[in-house]
Amino acid sequence: MPTRAWFPTLLYHEPLQKAGLDRFNAELADECHRLRDYDAAGRRWSAKNYPGGYTSYATLNQLHKISSTFGGLERKLTAHVRRFAKQLAFDLRGREIAMTDFWVNIMPEHAAHSLHLHPLSFISGTYYVATPRGCPGLKFEDPRLSKFMAAPPKLASARPAHRTHVTYPARAGHVILFESWLRHEVAANRTAAERISVSFNYNWS
Ligand code: NI
Repeated sequence: MPTRAWFPTLLYHEPLQKAGLDRFNAELADECHRLRDYDAAGRRWSAKNYPGGYTSYATLNQLHKISSTFGGLERKLTAHVRRFAKQLAFDLRGREIAMTDFWVNIMPEHAAHSLHLHPLSFISGTYYVATPRGCPGLKFEDPRLSKFMAAPPKLASARPAHRTHVTYPARAGHVILFESWLRHEVAANRTAAERISVSFNYNWS
């Protein structure tokens, strides 16, 4: 073939660990609910900025520093982020990667999270705690979309890597990692059950 693909956008998707996820997620879901019950300021912030749902993004956003459950999860996630940074061929110049933010997202029926990116970090991601059947996945946008200008639309039959969006299904026990500049969104939860995830940012320093 005379054409080759360049400048790939990498997405990482792996189970957190090989076994013990059901029990771990049940405990983590309990802790997420306790945080929501405790975090009155976060519930007020969410009412304005995260309609229909709860996020601790603006209030309890360094959970790895205050909770042993989240601290343990941070250590496991950091191993995944190291692998991902390696695949991205980053030269960390002898510095260490470090989690800077770690927060909870609870999306009941109808809650949605519109298109956004994660400033002040280089790798971000989500770990899925509770994913009722039929709940929305994580939808990523081609970062070059704003540059397409007069380009025609893609064929419906285009290979997945050539499409302008890709949606990763939300699967409890799985980690998704992406470069923090990559825009993404979560469509409205159309199931009657809560979708629970925890999200995080990493920098290198
Ligand atoms: Ni996000």
